[in-house]
Amino acid sequence: MTQYHEPVLLQACIDGLNLQPGGTYVDITFGGGGHSREILNQLDGGKLFGFDQDVDARANAQALADPRLTFVASNFRNIKRYLRLYKAEKVDGILADLGISSHQIDTPERGFSTRFDADLDMRMNQNADRTARQVVNEYSEPELHRILGMYGEITNARTAAAALVSARSNRPLKTVNDLKAALQRYAPRGKENKYFAQVFQALRIEVNEELQALEEFLEQVPDILKPGGRLVVMSYHSLEDRLVKNFINKGKFQGEVEKDLFGNDIKPLQAVTRKPIEATPDEIARNPRARSAKLRIAEKI
Ligand SMILES: C[S@@+](CC[C@H](N)C(=O)[O-])C[C@H]1O[C@@H](n2cnc3c(N)ncnc32)[C@H](O)[C@@H]1O
Repeated sequence: MTQYHEPVLLQACIDGLNLQPGGTYVDITFGGGGHSREILNQLDGGKLFGFDQDVDARANAQALADPRLTFVASNFRNIKRYLRLYKAEKVDGILADLGISSHQIDTPERGFSTRFDADLDMRMNQNADRTARQVVNEYSEPELHRILGMYGEITNARTAAAALVSARSNRPLKTVNDLKAALQRYAPRGKENKYFAQVFQALRIEVNEELQALEEFLEQVPDILKPGGRLVVMSYHSLEDRLVKNFINKGKFQGEVEKDLFGNDIKPLQAVTRKPIEATPDEIARNPRARSAKLRIAEKI
């Protein structure tokens, strides 16, 4: 299972959850189950829910064959609804390890990687309607400009959007190589890999509505956590980390924290660590994916 995905910042995540052996926990990004396995190791009488929208993750949950684990094949934006269904309305801790797994990026036909030619897919949920091919071929030029600029943070987003619209007017862009060919001229010389990685990140975020799902999830957290319960979130790019940081520190995604009549902050969570935890150079050398990880921990007030 380590081939599926090597867990990042494993011990820091487990410490952050402040595990109670008899508690109820949720791993909302089950993936290969690396973090979940360690949570299960520490439980005695407790239980764990594992969410993942990728059907490939289910097999990893089944392989664990642990009656304390309930796997939920759903987007984590539905967390509250499912926990209610399973009569676990309040939990002691929630772990999120955002983004895609190594398995997803290393499976050529999923279309997540710039390294392999494949259909432009990029869906984490193989049953979802929207694919990267639709985004690239059907979105308007201003929408593509917005996505590439905001989610990919590429500096020539307007030019790139125009190039895609021009290329697709000849014939639809169906594959990873079609997309790369359409943008090749606009990728900074010597930095093509980074440029395409940013373009792919932008499309992936749009295809999977990653920021919307994260916001919807975070808004449900205060209702789900017991007082003193822990939220542990690992993000891999600044757009996600900003949402997590603002929600923990201000109780909302934008603007300043609201105050009550006595001047006290109105916010449901309290940061446990002021700064995000990052991987050590040793871990990054072993697992390059850990390079951009930022781990934030909060407690329900
Ligand atoms: C970085 S991997 C998690 C790896 C896992 N911690 C491990 O140790 O194996 C992220 C996983 O979360 C899933 N995922 C991402 N966004 C999701 C969402 N909105 N709802 C459900 N699952 C999601 C992906 O399909 C992927 O399997």
